[in-house]
Amino acid sequence: MKTDIPYNQLVDVERRRQASNRKAVLYSRCVIALASVATVLLAAMALYNLLTPRVSSPHPAPSSSLHLSQRESCSDPCNIVLVESIPEGLEFNSSTTHPSIFQAWTNLMSEARSSLDIASFYWTLTNKDTGTQEPTAYQGETVLKKLSELSGKISVRIAVNTPQQSQPQDNLRLLNDSGANIRTVNMKKLTSGVLHTKFWVVDKKHIYIGSANMDWRSLTQVKELGVVVYNCSCLAADLGKIFEAYWFLGDSQSIPSPWPNSFSTLYNKDTPLQLPLNDTPSSVYLSSSPPSFCAAGRTQDLQSIVSVMEDAESFIYIAVMNYLPTMEFSHPKRYWADIDTQLRRAAYERRVKVRLLISCWASTQPVMFPFLKSLASVYDPKSKLDVQVRLFVVPASPEQKEIPFARVNHNKYMVTDKIAYIGTSNWSGDYFVSTAGSALVVNQTASESQEPTVQSQLKAVFERDWSSDYSTPLTQDANLRDLC
Ligand SMILES: *[C@@H]1O[C@H](CO)[C@@H](O)[C@H](O)[C@H]1NC(C)=O
Ligand SMILES: *[C@@H]1O[C@H](CO)[C@@H](O)[C@H](O)[C@H]1NC(C)=O
Ligand SMILES: *[C@@H]1O[C@H](CO)[C@@H](O)[C@H](O)[C@H]1NC(C)=O
Ligand SMILES: *[C@@H]1O[C@H](CO)[C@@H](O)[C@H](O)[C@H]1NC(C)=O
Ligand SMILES: *[C@@H]1O[C@H](CO)[C@@H](O)[C@H](O)[C@H]1NC(C)=O
Repeated sequence: MKTDIPYNQLVDVERRRQASNRKAVLYSRCVIALASVATVLLAAMALYNLLTPRVSSPHPAPSSSLHLSQRESCSDPCNIVLVESIPEGLEFNSSTTHPSIFQAWTNLMSEARSSLDIASFYWTLTNKDTGTQEPTAYQGETVLKKLSELSGKISVRIAVNTPQQSQPQDNLRLLNDSGANIRTVNMKKLTSGVLHTKFWVVDKKHIYIGSANMDWRSLTQVKELGVVVYNCSCLAADLGKIFEAYWFLGDSQSIPSPWPNSFSTLYNKDTPLQLPLNDTPSSVYLSSSPPSFCAAGRTQDLQSIVSVMEDAESFIYIAVMNYLPTMEFSHPKRYWADIDTQLRRAAYERRVKVRLLISCWASTQPVMFPFLKSLASVYDPKSKLDVQVRLFVVPASPEQKEIPFARVNHNKYMVTDKIAYIGTSNWSGDYFVSTAGSALVVNQTASESQEPTVQSQLKAVFERDWSSDYSTPLTQDANLRDLC
């Protein structure tokens, strides 16, 4: 990845890119397995206590009882909600709507009683940060205000990619002064990447994960998608381990190898966490990147994407800001086709219908188009080859055009006939090799509930966007300049 990216370019880059063999482990088996590892965990806890730097925050170090109660809490009625930011002025002819990310963050802050941990890329929640005078910064400014109030009352920890000198740091300064604990993770030094993850863990019980940055524009001017899971301490404990890894790196500034056992997980693509989500039996896990940040047991983000694709039988729908079969930031240039190959394979070997909804705006890199056209050329109804690509454009009024790095579809998710995958990474090689990101993978195949599954809700979001006037098919002779 390019090093020394000045802030403007970083945000530019951000906005531009913003643009199995699965053994379902029965709950009972899981319990037995857990019991047998309990001893190991106890030892791990002891090691954790030795290795975890003492912090001034009131966060208790995880105790063995946490791990034991973790299992019991998996029968907790976890409540999962898709959340979206729909940019000002965007209107769909569809009944598919979800609560806003602003609403989700507000709810989470009002639920918080003891702790709030946030993994973040950068912070620009106010007009002052972006040099704008936009009424739609109000939501972001409200979030910052509430966060600073909370910082004086409960433990607020923030892991953030080490800001460049030129980046606005007022938000972090305010939060620090209000009592939050902040650690900067020097990804440039650690992996030549960035900390691109965006998630929240509240009271070790509720979580948020999704595409929105801690940026006012992510609440009102950029299209984003995320998910909140309430009352789900087992999942929150697992996401908490990814947070603890960032927190640890913020202090040590070097990557342990291997990671201490306290960072290990039992839940991954082969042995997902079994839990009820909205009363529907579900199997769920969290994946993470880069590989060097994955402790024992953690599925790497690329592996989870590939395995979700391998498992698809009828369709794979993907909505990401940027899609490139390359290492975007490497010099010399490097081709990177892991995902691209998997899509072509699914289309050819299993006749899976593939749809890619990619973002297109003034800052889109032209090099994306020949590769997307190449994918879209894998289309021949007679041979049952069905790959299609559309470009999503968020329109902007003259005033909205003045807002820097806004008005774009920034979401990053995939939905197949079985699985919902909600992530934080751009889809190019760097994001799986050097950049920190994470994703939630949900399987509710066994649903007998009346309530629509997360998979079907996500599919409806995709179909709404795909069939809206905001998306245009990418044809072989399409000209980028005419489209975006
Ligand atoms: C895409 O890539 C750039 C480069 O690292 C990054 O700055 C940006 O945050 C990414 N956009 C997203 C969120 O996908
Ligand atoms: C937070 O404030 C303390 C002093 O109160 C200062 O030493 C520290 O560097 C600040 N941290 C950040 C990240 O601004
Ligand atoms: C979480 O659980 C509490 C206690 O059972 C309940 O009152 C609350 O409504 C739940 N929250 C959500 C969002 O489901
Ligand atoms: C999803 O869950 C069902 C039921 O537990 C299971 O049979 C299936 O293998 C799972 N699929 C994937 C891709 O995990
Ligand atoms: C909604 O439907 C109307 C009538 O068919 C059409 O004119 C309009 O462009 C549609 N809007 C979107 C966003 O699809």
